[in-house]
Amino acid sequence: MAEITLISGSTLGGAEYVAEHLAEKLEEAGYTTETLHGPLLEDLPQEGIWLVISSTHGAGDLPDNIQPLYDQLQEQNPDLSGVRFGAVGIGSREYDTFCGAIEKLEAVLTANGAKEIGEMARINILEHDIPEDPAEIWLGSWINLLKNA
Ligand SMILES: Cc1cc2nc3c(=O)[nH]c(=O)nc-3n(C[C@H](O)[C@H](O)[C@H](O)COP(=O)(O)O)c2cc1C
Repeated sequence: MAEITLISGSTLGGAEYVAEHLAEKLEEAGYTTETLHGPLLEDLPQEGIWLVISSTHGAGDLPDNIQPLYDQLQEQNPDLSGVRFGAVGIGSREYDTFCGAIEKLEAVLTANGAKEIGEMARINILEHDIPEDPAEIWLGSWINLLKNA
């Protein structure tokens, strides 16, 4: 089955663990995966399926390790019309800018022609001590959409 590239943006490691967990679940479902923590544009296949997982820091800011990719997407405007993607945000509702980073990533991917599959997940760590659990539930419906897309 298709290869899925998982891309994580994380400051403290939580989003990385979620990415690795989802990669494991995708492999169990028969997909092959590659997981990249804070990749640059040149590390990514510019077609196929991406799953982007990012927490938010500062006030709605991107984690430092994914900021360079975001800047490249904004400055270089690569043609991503061959990319379909899913988006998982991890954040805390105590901030007005809840899940701001994944919203920025979604916007720049869409602006460059990538097509989003399904609706992004916004995981509130105040409600979920273990963000892998709601992420896994979201992944189940995302896989169904992938099969039918
Ligand atoms: C200094 C700081 C600022 C944060 N700012 C936001 C924010 O603006 N929006 C949000 O949704 N979550 C915010 N968070 C919550 C983090 O996204 C959350 O703790 C997340 O689990 C961290 O994931 P990570 O381990 O991948 O870095 C902030 C956390 C810290 C410590």
